[in-house]
Amino acid sequence: MTTLQNKRIVMGITGGIAAYKTIELIRLLRKAGAEVRTVLTPAAAEFVTPLTLQAISGNPVSQSLLDPQAELAMGHIELAKWAELVVIAPASADFIARLNVGMANDLLATLCLATSAPIFLAPAMNQQMYAQSVTQHNIQSLQQRGIQLIGPNSGEQACGDVGLGRMSEPQEIFSALLQHFSVTQDLVGLNVAITAGPTQEAIDPVRYISNHSSGKMGFAIAAAFAQRGAKVTLISGPVNLATPHQVTRIDVLSAQEMWQIALESAVKNHIFIACAAVADYRVAEVAAQKIKKSGDEMQLRLVKNPDIVSDVGHLAENRPFTVGFAAETQQVEQYAQDKLARKKLDMICANDVSNGQVFGAEQNALMLFWPQGSASLAKTTKTQLAIQLVNKIVERYKAK
Ligand code: PMT
Repeated sequence: MTTLQNKRIVMGITGGIAAYKTIELIRLLRKAGAEVRTVLTPAAAEFVTPLTLQAISGNPVSQSLLDPQAELAMGHIELAKWAELVVIAPASADFIARLNVGMANDLLATLCLATSAPIFLAPAMNQQMYAQSVTQHNIQSLQQRGIQLIGPNSGEQACGDVGLGRMSEPQEIFSALLQHFSVTQDLVGLNVAITAGPTQEAIDPVRYISNHSSGKMGFAIAAAFAQRGAKVTLISGPVNLATPHQVTRIDVLSAQEMWQIALESAVKNHIFIACAAVADYRVAEVAAQKIKKSGDEMQLRLVKNPDIVSDVGHLAENRPFTVGFAAETQQVEQYAQDKLARKKLDMICANDVSNGQVFGAEQNALMLFWPQGSASLAKTTKTQLAIQLVNKIVERYKAK
């Protein structure tokens, strides 16, 4: 029996060229044993026909809120209650905006308001539309309400642009849904603290030293733990990301602030994960006023910041299972092993950042080392990677 046997899935399709890929997604879902009912927005019906979708899904396709025949067969509220999961692929910018403000001006939006089932969105739109602050705002606010995002991917788009906004491939969406149904709340009672993002070290009231960490990797780890029922505290530097569902977030700016909160949290948690890219040095004397331009050169004196994960690793009492990261551009394994020993860690996750494609990127690969062994996790989205990493951390934590 497959994991999706008899699962009741409402497949929402909105207007976008990627709608043709959804036919393959429905095929995969049905092959895995799911029952699929498709809901089309008026714009989606311009891209794929109800007849095709009916044949592939094996069920009538719903299109209109005001269709007496359809309401007789399965009314929209009934459909909302029937669903164990709603997935919208492609999810257009327009639909995402309507969903965010709670509109109910077509069948699919109404159904999303009326359902208590988890909702997944696979966005698909032009890269510029995706990057717009209003779209990002809508997505973040939906994520805060627990709506989950699959993708989008980066690459060449139907319009000829290249960038982030391509709908995830049917197989990727299918895997994410499969993952959702196989997740169990097996980590209830486990407390996890995670640092994420960059730190900012002030130079004067308007300038600072920082790095390119976006927080994506750390936030994905927090989400993966929370989905399995763990109590997660996320200590984040300045990033532009929504707080994952069911995660407690504490925002900090500097390494010293992060150190203070992290040390307080670490002793209250079973697992501590240092994913943040913490500044190793800070400016010795932060200027009280904006520094004025003067000579051709200027010098800043830097002093060492406390090493957060090392201090946690060396705790004499209430020491949590401690996991660090190592971002290296050369001799990755050697430097990672050195940090594992020197910082007294239980595990280290090594990132090869020599190609400049890890900080801020959507995808990553990791090599894991612990005192008696190692493993590698192949390149995939940070969301998927985090799920695999959490499995490995929990396995090592239990072994210890
Ligand atoms: O945020 P993203 O854009 O998704 O990118 C993810 C990431 C590349 C930032 C992340 O995967 C990562 O590798 N984080 C660690 C980056 C880093 O600063 O590595 P490091 O080798 O300099 O530090 C080693 C370890 O010590 C890390 O766990 C770091 O959090 C910790 N550290 C470092 C300095 C310091 N003062 N305190 C610390 O706790």
